[in-house]
Amino acid sequence: MSLVNRMARAARRRGLALLSHDRSGGKPPGARETEDPALFRPLIYGDPARLHVAPTAIVNNALFNLSSGDIAIGEYAFFGHNVSVLTGTHDWTKFGAERQVAVPESGRNVVIEEGAWLSSHVVVVAPCRIGAHSVVGVGSLVLGDVEPYTVVAGSPAKVLRQIPRPDAPATSPADPDSGSAGRVGAG
Ligand SMILES: CC(C)(COP(=O)(O)OP(=O)(O)OC[C@H]1O[C@@H](n2cnc3c(N)ncnc32)[C@H](O)[C@@H]1OP(=O)(O)O)[C@@H](O)C(=O)NCCC(=O)NCCS
Repeated sequence: MSLVNRMARAARRRGLALLSHDRSGGKPPGARETEDPALFRPLIYGDPARLHVAPTAIVNNALFNLSSGDIAIGEYAFFGHNVSVLTGTHDWTKFGAERQVAVPESGRNVVIEEGAWLSSHVVVVAPCRIGAHSVVGVGSLVLGDVEPYTVVAGSPAKVLRQIPRPDAPATSPADPDSGSAGRVGAG
């Protein structure tokens, strides 16, 4: 069973509303009084039943376009502000009014796996899978899959670095790569 289906089923089993802080007036626990609730309120375009956000994920004010697929976001994944995740598309072989409404209903899912960090102003275009514990740099455009434990950035996003896996052998402090890897995810 796909991750999308598994997450939807698990959420239904637990009776969870999938965007829990949306129900409590917009702000998640721990938000400051001075912070505008709009910073924490996602915008959902399309059928909200197609959006599956794990209870521990943080999506802030993301825009979710659900026209042409489901979006699944795993545990402890988190977004900066103004992230867009877009499943919808239009058939550009059509013209005029037909192009406006020529939108596929399915086939363009997005899966964002556990622990992934999407920095502010990232745009994700379906279909794609953003791997577990990966990092997408600020302002990046994701047009395809991102491997787990990688840092990607740019437009379109390309691999910048590999992130050492927790079970990987420790690198020497003299290794020039070890310092920068340690900074990933600190922000
Ligand atoms: C992805 C990120 C974590 C990488 O940080 P880093 O490991 O310290 O990377 P560096 O700054 O050393 O940059 C490494 C290279 O990647 C490039 N790069 C880094 N981020 C980039 C981005 N968002 N887009 C394009 N290129 C980027 C740098 O220009 C540099 O290129 P060079 O080697 O040719 O000079 C960081 O750039 C980032 O996007 N942080 C998120 C900021 C943010 O959104 N904060 C709000 C809270 S979520």
